[in-house]
Amino acid sequence: NEIYFGGLRGSVPPYPVAFAALELTAEAALPTSVWSYVAGGAGDERTQRANVEAFARWGIVPRMLVGATERDLSVDLFGIQLPSPIFLAPVGVVGIAAQDGHGDLAAARASAATGVTMIASTLSEDPLEAVGDALGETPGLFQLYTPKDRDLAASLVSRAEAAGYKAIVVTLDTWMTGWRPRDLTTANFPQLRGAALANYVTDPVFRAALPESSRNDPRAIVEQWASVFGNPLTWADLPWLRSLTTLPIILKGICAADDARRAIDVGIDGIYVSNHGGRQANGGLPALDMLPDVVAAVAGCVPVLFDSGVRSGSDVVIALAMGATAVGIGRPYVYGVAVGGTAGVIHVLRSILAEADLLMGVNGLPTIASLRTADLRRVGALS
Ligand code: FNR
Repeated sequence: NEIYFGGLRGSVPPYPVAFAALELTAEAALPTSVWSYVAGGAGDERTQRANVEAFARWGIVPRMLVGATERDLSVDLFGIQLPSPIFLAPVGVVGIAAQDGHGDLAAARASAATGVTMIASTLSEDPLEAVGDALGETPGLFQLYTPKDRDLAASLVSRAEAAGYKAIVVTLDTWMTGWRPRDLTTANFPQLRGAALANYVTDPVFRAALPESSRNDPRAIVEQWASVFGNPLTWADLPWLRSLTTLPIILKGICAADDARRAIDVGIDGIYVSNHGGRQANGGLPALDMLPDVVAAVAGCVPVLFDSGVRSGSDVVIALAMGATAVGIGRPYVYGVAVGGTAGVIHVLRSILAEADLLMGVNGLPTIASLRTADLRRVGALS
């Protein structure tokens, strides 16, 4: 209504509403190397495209005469009542898309303004403590790229705990960087130019590992970072990981039902279905196709987070109807950072939430619980 009534008075939204237009505007706003990094993916990007296309294969059977005038989009995550079922997926190096270089802070401020939870990435331009402060009252989660150095991992986790983050999200699928032709062609890997290493350079364990004379030498910092980044975790590491914190631990990148069951058996508190937006393994299944199996395997024991390919409120509604506890927004908010900083991210989040809310109303599904009971069909299944 805000937009429609604004239109009556001759004002239109300052940023694009449709994702395709947002994408074009972001591309025009960014240097080619930055656009390649944020928009690109692995291989010929077929999995990245399939992530998005997968949503178009599903539809909800609408129910009428429900009078769903009041909607409640809140969800519970580890006893925290979140006002909405979406969250900002962890995006490292997001500062390269921001005009002032502080993309993490722009996202965190948008999170504070909207109440949409943010998962702060290990790879940020500002330290996790500053990002945590910018989140204000909104609960944040911290995403861990587990370094090879166990003391450094412990230090990052305890800093996240001290900074008030509510859970640790351990990303499993990126202990090596994927085969990304757009970036390989131009040797474009921003971390190797020192972007987004703030959590390392401010870390006492990381600093102590550098000879005193090179603690402020950018080249030495990058080399030290490259030597510790990317621990190929195995099941045998999970008890150690578990011992690092009493906070809930969520594993990001779990897509197989057996892996989900096994993770729960060893005391993991949450599963996060994602294929990293198709940036890691090309030729895989769309993430959405893997969600129902994992939801069935988890059988309500722990929350199931989801991302990869979510571009709109209707995508959010479909993922929730499939059983996701909460749904992650990735590239759309990066494009929000590119077109308008904090205001751009707020616009993207509010647009996605407004569409999801409207859809729940017109489909006669006023709560997330009712959405989970919705009649979700494959397109063509009623004909
Ligand atoms: C990511 N993603 C990611 N994931 C993570 O666990 N830690 C990280 O630091 C990053 N960094 C990152 C950078 C960029 C530029 C992108 C686009 C993505 C993956 C992210 O959390 C999420 O899984 C994907 O963005 C989901 O795919 P879509 O919906 O954005 O296509």
